[in-house]
Amino acid sequence: MKQVYGVIGDPISHSLSPVMQEAAFKYCHLDAAYHAFHVPKQYLEQAVQGMRGLGVKGLNVTLPHKVEIMNFLDEIDPLAEKIGAVNTIVQEDGKLVGYNTDGEGYMQSLQPISEKTIASSRVLIIGAGGAAKGVAITMASYGVKELVITNRTLSKAESLAQDCGKYTSSAAMPIGMAQAKLTEFDIIINTTSIGMTPDIDTMPLSLEMLGKNVIVSDLIYTPFQTRFLLEAEKKGAKILNGLDMFVNQGALSFKYWTGQEAPREIMKDVVMKELGG
Ligand code: ATR
Repeated sequence: MKQVYGVIGDPISHSLSPVMQEAAFKYCHLDAAYHAFHVPKQYLEQAVQGMRGLGVKGLNVTLPHKVEIMNFLDEIDPLAEKIGAVNTIVQEDGKLVGYNTDGEGYMQSLQPISEKTIASSRVLIIGAGGAAKGVAITMASYGVKELVITNRTLSKAESLAQDCGKYTSSAAMPIGMAQAKLTEFDIIINTTSIGMTPDIDTMPLSLEMLGKNVIVSDLIYTPFQTRFLLEAEKKGAKILNGLDMFVNQGALSFKYWTGQEAPREIMKDVVMKELGG
């Protein structure tokens, strides 16, 4: 019987998950369909119950539902519990289990370009919203050497640094201070929306003090290279955009649903094509 999967969010029409997952199912000869469901906030609970009623095998969950969805599931994986957000649901014998593959997806994108081990890296995360949380908590629970969070609203950075502090050495600081200490970091990650249209020329912080052998990363992948990444590359940094993170989070969801390794290259190719690459 054909298995049904999908993604729920609001808005959802821009999502690249359907083309990416359908390409993976097709490549693996799995009899499955993947649909983008537009679910406004007030229908979230009914959508989850509908998943049970209709026997939908798995869902991805995107903005703005990643936190709220946790109230309606039967079990939450420990990493998703730590992060406080779910982006993947698996239905197994009528039970709905929530996972978070965003942070793990990011870690998998970092590993191939990182010369140092994650455990010996000092990391600066810019931003303290939902995306920052997934990356920061996952990194912290991997045991990164030092994690610093900076954010326009310092109190949010402090709260996230405190959560990360349960697993690793972690601190919060204002953007100006992080900018002045930039040489002290091996990996710098922008998790804010700064650099997306319409503020395409804005930088989340100045890279003037950038050290040597640094990885500069941006979770954004539209545009493919933000000004932040272009400037970092000019200064000799290794750069990493958010495309591999997106593909990896989807590949990890695929594995939870099917038990099979996902065809990551096929998935990445189809997404690149959609992006006009
Ligand atoms: P997401 O789930 O994509 O992380 P979010 O939870 O709304 O979205 O978080 C957005 C992050 O980008 C926050 O860290 C936000 O800073 P504030 O906490 O100060 O709001 C940051 N951000 C967004 N636009 C920004 C801007 N123009 N300047 C500085 N920071 C910005």
